Amino acid sequence: MDIVERVLITEEEIQTRVRELGQAISQDYGDKPIALICILKGGLMFLCDLAKHITSPVTYDFMSVSSYGDATQSSGVVRITKDLEESIEGKHVIIVEDIIDTGLTLSYLLNNLRSRNPASLRICTLLNKPSNRKVEIPVDYVGFEVPNAFLVGYGLDFRQLYRNIPYIFIPKPKYYQDEID
Ligand code: PRP
Repeated sequence: MDIVERVLITEEEIQTRVRELGQAISQDYGDKPIALICILKGGLMFLCDLAKHITSPVTYDFMSVSSYGDATQSSGVVRITKDLEESIEGKHVIIVEDIIDTGLTLSYLLNNLRSRNPASLRICTLLNKPSNRKVEIPVDYVGFEVPNAFLVGYGLDFRQLYRNIPYIFIPKPKYYQDEID
């Protein structure tokens, strides 16, 4: 694809790491049921692949929050646009995210979900971008630490496109320069 400047994480690297994360989670939880909470839309691809490698009993539910709109920088404004369907009270919850950037989304979500009294609450993110953090977030499972670049693919979009691409790439600046000027 012309938009690809550089592939940062290949499909094989993602699949290998996701399998490892699934195995680590399975070891930690054993036979305890896990309520996976996928944060839409970016977390969807990761959830599907991750869940395949978890041997503990798993349920999943979905939540949608709005923070970025279509821009490439965080606005810091978070609101729930779709809430969970099931109660998480007394459950072992893992939030499944594609990326933690400023941490603002997860900071809000952690507070919100904690108030619903889960038995435990952990975070699993495929990508962690610590250089851009505005609030500290306790991350339990991380796929890859990534640099402070605009990343697209495997759940991450550019103008809602390319979420289905099975690898993560840095787009050519000419495609998005007008949005960050
Ligand atoms: C992305 C990502 C996280 C959030 C991380 O979602 O999926 O939810 O931004 O950024 P932060 O740490 O700076 O808060 P986005 O709002 O782009 O929605 P999407 O998943 O639907 O693309």
